[in-house]
Parts: sequence; C-alpha cells; structure tokens
Amino acid sequence: MRGIILAGGNGTRLQPVSLVGSKQLAPVYDKPMIYYPLSVLMLAGISDVLIITRPTELELFQRLFGDGGRLGMSIRYAAQDAPRGIADAFRVGADHIGGEDCALILGDNLFHGADLPPMLRSSAERLNGCVLFAHQVSDPQKFGVAEVDRAGRLVAIEEKPERPRSNLAIPGLYFFDGEVVDIAKRLTPSLRGELEITDVLRAYLKQGRADLMWMGRGVTWLDTGTHESLLEAGLFVRDVQRRQGTRIGCVEEVAMHMGFIGPDECHRLGAEMPNSPYGRYVMDCARAYERLPASARLRGGR
Ligand code: DAU
Repeated sequence: MRGIILAGGNGTRLQPVSLVGSKQLAPVYDKPMIYYPLSVLMLAGISDVLIITRPTELELFQRLFGDGGRLGMSIRYAAQDAPRGIADAFRVGADHIGGEDCALILGDNLFHGADLPPMLRSSAERLNGCVLFAHQVSDPQKFGVAEVDRAGRLVAIEEKPERPRSNLAIPGLYFFDGEVVDIAKRLTPSLRGELEITDVLRAYLKQGRADLMWMGRGVTWLDTGTHESLLEAGLFVRDVQRRQGTRIGCVEEVAMHMGFIGPDECHRLGAEMPNSPYGRYVMDCARAYERLPASARLRGGR
C-alpha cells in the first residue's frame, strides 16, 4: 500500500507562523508536525510515502527526510502549485499511487492511542473501496460530517454543514483502492473552487463501497490548524509523554518497531541528536528494544 501526506496549503489560519515556511514543519512540542502523520502511515505498515507540499517548501521536507532510506522507507516529494483541494492529492500523486491501494493523511492531523495500530492494520486489510473514520466531537460544523442510520451504517457525508446531522466528524485519514485516481479526475471543483475530499467519499458511498470505522475512546484525534489547536496539541503531547515516559510520533522508534530498521540503525539516528531529549530517547529505545517482550513491541520488528 502507498501513502500520501498532504502538507501544502497556505495555512492562512496560522499566519504569521506560516508566512515563511510550512505549517507542517512547525513544532508540535518536541518535533515537526509532519512526524505525527508520517508515524501513523508507518504504523499502518506503509513504507512507501509521497509528501505533497508547496513548491517553495519542497526542499525543506527533503532536507528533513531525504529519500527515506535512513528510516528504511522510500519517501518521495511532489509539489502542489496551488491549493486546489484535498482531493487534488490524487491527481498530483497519480503516478505514486499507480493503481495500488493508498492511504491519505492530512499533514496537520495528529492521532494517538492504543487502539490506533490495530485499527490501521484492519483498515488496510479489509479495504474494499474506501475506509473513512468517524470521531465524536463537540463542534462538527468545522469538519466533514458522517450521517449514520440507526444501525450505524453510513448514509450521507457533508462538508462543514451549518446544521450538522450528527456529531461524527470525519478525520483527515482515509484508505482508498486504486480507483481513487479516476474518481478524482472526474471531480468538478466545489463552490469554494476546491476538489473536495467529501466528494470522493460520496462517490464511493454511492457505489456502496465506503466503509465507516468508528474511532472510539481508544484513539485521540487532534487537528492543529489554528493557533489555539496547535498549542493544545503541543500541551497534549507534552503531558502524555511526561506522564508515560514514551513519545508520540517518534518516527525512528516506529521504524524500528515496524521492522523497517534494526535497533543499531535506530541508535545511530538518535546519536546524531545527542544534546536533545528526543535524540536521547531514540537511543534509549534502541537499547531497550531487545529486552522488550514481543507483546510490548508495536509489531514484532525484525
Ligand atoms: O481535519 C479534518 C478535516 O480536514 C476533514 O474533516 C474535512 O472533511 C476536510 O475537508 C479537511 O478540512 P479542513 O478545513 O481542515 O481542510 P484544510 O483546507 O484546512 O486542509 C487540510 C490540510 O490539507 C492542511 O494541512 C493543508 C492541506 N492542504 C489543503 C488544501 C485545500 C493542501 O496541502 N492542499 C490543498 O489544496
């Protein structure tokens, strides 16, 4: 399965932070924002990822991850020359997808929780059309919203409705089969001039091939699109990490647990940042890995 991180857009709600540089490189506590969505794709077992950014920022992301080889992955880059909408990712990324199944994650969405890895794996395995998620929120009018019938079946999807028919927001993480590229090519822009992800989801729903998975209390979903939500996400990450002594979105640790790299390579990556608590954590993870019982590893590793 291929992965795409959509990390472009003008980030107008985060100006002036996003005036120079990418909002998806802004720190969420101790690491750049993009580490979080990247680690989610990795937890789904995806090691082949395309990062889509604004043309001016492409090089910054390249400097951060290179070709992905250090993480045992393939990471490529593509520019979106104007923010034409989330579904434009399937046009820009058509060659990368190449008819395969793919997962799309928005570069400003952060997920955490024990239920996440099994949920990601089963989404990838049971994919027949598309998988989208539902997460209960108190302010659904800010998001894509899923309407379900009494049996919990998905019946309609709306983008930022004024009067939402449910409190089930659709987070920025989706799984699709290779047909998504053709579906995206047939889309027409919405009134706000964008290729809407909700229109892609609706096309699958119409074909009876949209599978809604509920993200229950075992998964926390945070959006980092505003100053307020960015700060809240940073505080959330700090509090969980401080309390548990583990880190959220640590790509080196996830790469090791997923078997993309071994403990020695993981240790080397941490050793390049010896003065930061993050680098020391990566080294500690690598040293502790061999002693971990298999059940404490995210997915067995090497
Ligand atoms: O966060 C989940 C929500 O994300 C979903 O519930 C909505 O259905 C979906 O439309 C989206 O809503 P947003 O209002 O958050 O979308 P926004 O325009 O802020 O874009 C989300 C991210 O995608 C943001 O990091 C910038 C990036 N992006 C967006 C567009 C429109 C691009 O890279 N290129 C684009 O053309």
